[in-house]
Amino acid sequence: MKRSPPSISNRLRPSLLSSRYLVLSRLRQALEQAVAEQVLVSPTPSVVDLGCGDRPYQPIFAARGASYIGADLAPNRRADVFIDESGRTPLGDGCADIVLSTQVLEHVASPTQYLQECARLLQPAGVLLVTTHGYWAYHPSPSDLWRWTGEGLALLLRQSGFEVQKLTGILGTGAAALQLLQDATLPLLPRLARRLVTPVFQTGMWMLDRTSTAEQRVHDALVYLAVAIKK
Ligand SMILES: C[S@@+](CC[C@H](N)C(=O)[O-])C[C@H]1O[C@@H](n2cnc3c(N)ncnc32)[C@H](O)[C@@H]1O
Repeated sequence: MKRSPPSISNRLRPSLLSSRYLVLSRLRQALEQAVAEQVLVSPTPSVVDLGCGDRPYQPIFAARGASYIGADLAPNRRADVFIDESGRTPLGDGCADIVLSTQVLEHVASPTQYLQECARLLQPAGVLLVTTHGYWAYHPSPSDLWRWTGEGLALLLRQSGFEVQKLTGILGTGAAALQLLQDATLPLLPRLARRLVTPVFQTGMWMLDRTSTAEQRVHDALVYLAVAIKK
């Protein structure tokens, strides 16, 4: 039987027993830090979450007094506005101080076109917070098309009209390899064994990742977070 990933609503604070515990916890911490640094662009920043899913990261912005609009493909009922087939959002040019894009880039047919829509929505010198995968298994939503190295993601952002201010790799190659091994192994096990084995894999990932450096992870990571400024 295939094991499904945790529901999107668990993304902000995953259970300790989740097979996504370490990656989602680290992603939240990295986003919280980036928001703490970037929210200063305005005392009450406006945020557009482009590909918002179940809006898992809205609380991080709400806690800082930001206004938040979730945009997604129809028929996502959690979206405030829908993105049309050409990739355009019914929001004005320069309406956002911050565009948030978490785990969307690998799903879009044209990453450059999607990033150009991010740039259109941003004010001059507005901030794009984008996260996407380096190493991860296939996970369609509705498609799953791309993976990046840190260098490739930075190049794509520059080619799409952004200056990369900061690029962070979240979990290095050792942890990523164990995550993939865990995801290949769990579906082979009975339910109880899965519950016992998952924390072992997650602890192993934590231990292995202590040996990776930020310099290594910026090239090779399970997930990247880029902070990019509209040129
Ligand atoms: C893995 S989910 C991530 C959702 C949310 N951002 C999160 O972090 O939980 C991928 C999201 O990308 C959206 N998506 C897929 N293709 C898209 C596109 N071309 N433009 C914008 N969003 C897209 C999906 O509808 C889905 O909500």
